[in-house]
Amino acid sequence: MKILVATDKPFAQAATAAIEEVVTTSGCELQLLEKYATKDKLIQAVGNADALIVRSDRIDAEVMDAAPRLKVIARAGAGYDNIDLEAATSHGICVMNTPGQNANAVAELALGLMVMAVRNMYNGTSGTELKGKRLGIHAYGNVGRNVARIAQGFGMETYAYDAYCPKDIIEKDGTKALDSVEELYRTCHVVSLHIPLTPETRQSIGRNLVGLMPQGALLVNTARKEVIDEEALISLMEERKDLKYVTDIAPDANNDFVQMFAGRYFATPKKMGAQTAEANTNAGIAAARQVVDYLLHGIDKYRVNR
Ligand code: 3PG
Repeated sequence: MKILVATDKPFAQAATAAIEEVVTTSGCELQLLEKYATKDKLIQAVGNADALIVRSDRIDAEVMDAAPRLKVIARAGAGYDNIDLEAATSHGICVMNTPGQNANAVAELALGLMVMAVRNMYNGTSGTELKGKRLGIHAYGNVGRNVARIAQGFGMETYAYDAYCPKDIIEKDGTKALDSVEELYRTCHVVSLHIPLTPETRQSIGRNLVGLMPQGALLVNTARKEVIDEEALISLMEERKDLKYVTDIAPDANNDFVQMFAGRYFATPKKMGAQTAEANTNAGIAAARQVVDYLLHGIDKYRVNR
């Protein structure tokens, strides 16, 4: 059986070696396609694949049509908004993610971006500290929990809102669970986004919520650029000179943000929350084991489509 690892943004070398070990030990064959840049190359490569391991690579019906043997796709990571689940189900393909495997890496970057922002993007001027500030964690999944743990080490007070996570789970971590998303934004100096991209969350963060934040507020986005209502955020930041926005992956309106909000805005050049050797290895090995277990034993524990 052929397992294709197709990553336009390659894993660390150590992760690729670890994936290869899992795949070859199982008796399967590994095919590697990195930095492929064009969809045509991906379409060519999937032609004889039984399984596909990807990161944020976009896998749509056209790719699946070109992969008649494909039985399983593992998204080595948490968010699977890059995979057309309906198309996968209609093609009889199982889709899985690897929850939690890269959560610490993303959480560390979120705190790193916070430090950078409160120190005025390291421009040499006097900044502020995170200690004693109220941090709002918007969605308390694997990344949100790690953000709480690290932020508490900085001496931040942690608050969270998550419509799906029971309050007692949040509060056992020493994080205060709030009753509404509005209360989270109204209460906190810093809000860190950890919501998935879904039809409900698309463009859901704008003036409606960020406008509620107190003076000197900071919004940190290591989730997805699409959850931001960019027009609304731009107009709010024009009005409120105290607001800062830092994000892991440039929004579509990146140039507008860069030109208009120097010193109050920063975006990583490429999504790099999960871009560490450790996260790549954890997520890569988990994905490889999951596809092997599915191909050889039909195990579909982390399936996300039905
Ligand atoms: C995820 O959803 O797991 C993260 O956003 C990481 O995405 P990446 O694998 O493209 O870095």
